[in-house]
Amino acid sequence: MSLLTVDDLVVEHRSPGRPVVRAVAGASLAVHPGEVVGLVGESGCGKSTLARAVCGLNPIAEGSITFDGQPVTPLGLRRRKLTGIQMVFQDPYTSLNPRRRVGDQIADGLRTARDREGSGAPELTRAAPSPADLLERVGLPRDFAGRHPHEFSGGQRQRVAIARALAARPRLLIGDEPISALDASAQSQVATLMRDLAVESGAGLLFISHDLSVVRLIADRIAVMYLGKIVEVGDTEEVWAGPRHPYTQALLKAIPKPDGMGVLPAELPGDVPDPANPPEGCRFHPRCPFVMDVCRVKEPDFGPAACWLHEPK
Ligand SMILES: Nc1ncnc2c1ncn2[C@@H]1O[C@H](COP(=O)(O)OP(=O)(O)OP(=O)(O)O)[C@@H](O)[C@H]1O
Ligand SMILES: [Mg+2]
Repeated sequence: MSLLTVDDLVVEHRSPGRPVVRAVAGASLAVHPGEVVGLVGESGCGKSTLARAVCGLNPIAEGSITFDGQPVTPLGLRRRKLTGIQMVFQDPYTSLNPRRRVGDQIADGLRTARDREGSGAPELTRAAPSPADLLERVGLPRDFAGRHPHEFSGGQRQRVAIARALAARPRLLIGDEPISALDASAQSQVATLMRDLAVESGAGLLFISHDLSVVRLIADRIAVMYLGKIVEVGDTEEVWAGPRHPYTQALLKAIPKPDGMGVLPAELPGDVPDPANPPEGCRFHPRCPFVMDVCRVKEPDFGPAACWLHEPK
């Protein structure tokens, strides 16, 4: 059974005097225990909005999110801590408290795990590690627990953020661009560390990244998001060997560029359309080199590749 099931999810952003932005516009996705799912797509396609909804931070307009058999609803901070979902954010400078020793911040995570003990979570029967143990597990010296965040490099800080998340013994770990603020040498190390520690503890990992080469390195499955929808999902190696959706094909072609996948290759004109005013039919049709008549009028609402070239028989 899936640990996380996102079914036809719609999440809207509303601001006064502005059109409603359907940042997530009917997205479906699953993560299994011990599985790493990479979520990729251009800037603004709705990845963070989806991740925040999974954590109960964004209200659901339509569709559903089920975590561990329970529906996810917007939660207060305390209840959110008890769900068993932990998130590691892009910027380790703002996600750690600059005034507190990192050992104390990791101890907060340990307390969160203890608070959940009452709920009978089976993973809590193991002996609890100490903050120093966790620092060691993320590759930092044990005695760094007494230091403050400014005494760490960006990569080290992100290791601390991962240690704090793991201290809470999550069933699901979400990384929202957890490596994009790190220098190139730290990126694959930190990504691999997250994968290893999540899988080793039996947790699922939803890893959001612009960097397809890192996703390929760590993900069992990959989900490609375009303008609020998952347009292709599949085993990482299969998607790599034969991307079906023209958008996935374009992303894979864009990899060798130094600016990564934030920019589409020259063959695909145009920017990401406005999610407040998406195109009719297939959302990708104005940029698609294979556009057909049906694409302009009818949305391809099927998987694993939501493209009229790949309509299931
Ligand atoms: N609080 C908000 N209010 C209004 N619009 C928002 C808000 N947050 C996000 N949006 C809009 O929703 C859409 C999706 O944003 P989101 O942050 O989920 O994208 P993303 O895929 O995470 O992008 P990035 O790769 O840049 O992090 C964008 O058009 C964005 O401008
Ligand atoms: Mg984002």
